Amino acid sequence: MKAAVIARYGQVGDVVTLREVPIPAVGPRDMLLETHAAGVNPVDHLIVKGFMAPGGLEQPLVIGSEVAGVVAAVGDEVTRFSVGDEVFVRVDPRVGGAFAEYTAVHEDLAAAKPENLSFEEAAGLPLAALTAWQALTEQADVRTGSRVLIHGGAGGVGSTAVQIAKYLGAEVVTTAGVDSVELVLELGADRVIDYRAERFDDVLSEFDVVFDTIGGDTQERSFRVLKPGGTLVSIVPIPDVEAKRAQWGVDARSFFMRPNGEQLARLAALVKSRQLRPIIEAVFPFDETIEALLKVERGGARGKTVIRVRP
Ligand SMILES: NC(=O)c1ccc[n+]([C@@H]2O[C@H](COP(=O)([O-])OP(=O)(O)OC[C@H]3O[C@@H](n4cnc5c(N)ncnc54)[C@H](OP(=O)(O)O)[C@@H]3O)[C@@H](O)[C@H]2O)c1
Repeated sequence: MKAAVIARYGQVGDVVTLREVPIPAVGPRDMLLETHAAGVNPVDHLIVKGFMAPGGLEQPLVIGSEVAGVVAAVGDEVTRFSVGDEVFVRVDPRVGGAFAEYTAVHEDLAAAKPENLSFEEAAGLPLAALTAWQALTEQADVRTGSRVLIHGGAGGVGSTAVQIAKYLGAEVVTTAGVDSVELVLELGADRVIDYRAERFDDVLSEFDVVFDTIGGDTQERSFRVLKPGGTLVSIVPIPDVEAKRAQWGVDARSFFMRPNGEQLARLAALVKSRQLRPIIEAVFPFDETIEALLKVERGGARGKTVIRVRP
């Protein structure tokens, strides 16, 4: 099968190749998916550069973190899905492999693809939406009436977080670039701050939760807008987290999302009831996987970039 592979770490343009590799083996609780589309995420170019792995690369790695496709074969012990089912999955980061004609996934990580989404739309959802869901419901406790600031509301994660926070009943303020203001308002944000024109910490205060998808100076200034006892949840590292908690009297935590088929099924139900929709900014043909990775690496996202693996 054809797949996007790295045999060593380095820059995307130097080390990612599209080449023939064996179809992955399927364990007893795995399913082999015929890949139709795969979402592209910042973590993919970070993996390519070796940032996510402490050691070297022991063998060539098929990259790609999320996929939508059709079950082509199942292991002996698979009970939840059958051949022919349409599913979407945040693949196991230790296995990887979504940028490929076939992908092996554990059945517990998968959920039925919402019927009202194309494969391309569905492929853009698992990683971002699971990240937002886990941030807002597990790491923080967003509920009716919570005041939530979401940074980067137009990005892959942010665009799902705005919708999920609204679904949970929160009042949502988000930061975004001027070109994305209309989009985030359409997604349900109550207020948007053009972060290049206005300093959010000059105009906001007393928030219950800040969801930080940016880090750096944005994260640093976010502590100022929390009320005492509030929560800053970040998906990038928080330097000196203990000191920050003590200084500001808040909870502060960063975490790494995990694949979860049950939660993904819950998110699929929100898609079906039209409370959550993926925002797809660009679709690249499989042969242009490297260009898709470079686009995501450049930043400035308004929703997700997706690779169409099968026409
Ligand atoms: N820990 C985890 O489990 C986890 C999971 C998913 C993602 N992540 C990380 O989270 C980050 C975001 O991921 P993503 O997929 O959402 O990225 P993305 O799709 O590239 O979105 C980032 C968004 O932030 C905007 N932005 C940039 N600087 C900003 C600022 N100072 N204030 C407000 N908005 C700003 C960007 O648009 P403009 O540049 O046009 O403003 C873009 O819309 C990445 O670093 C990724 O690696 C971590």
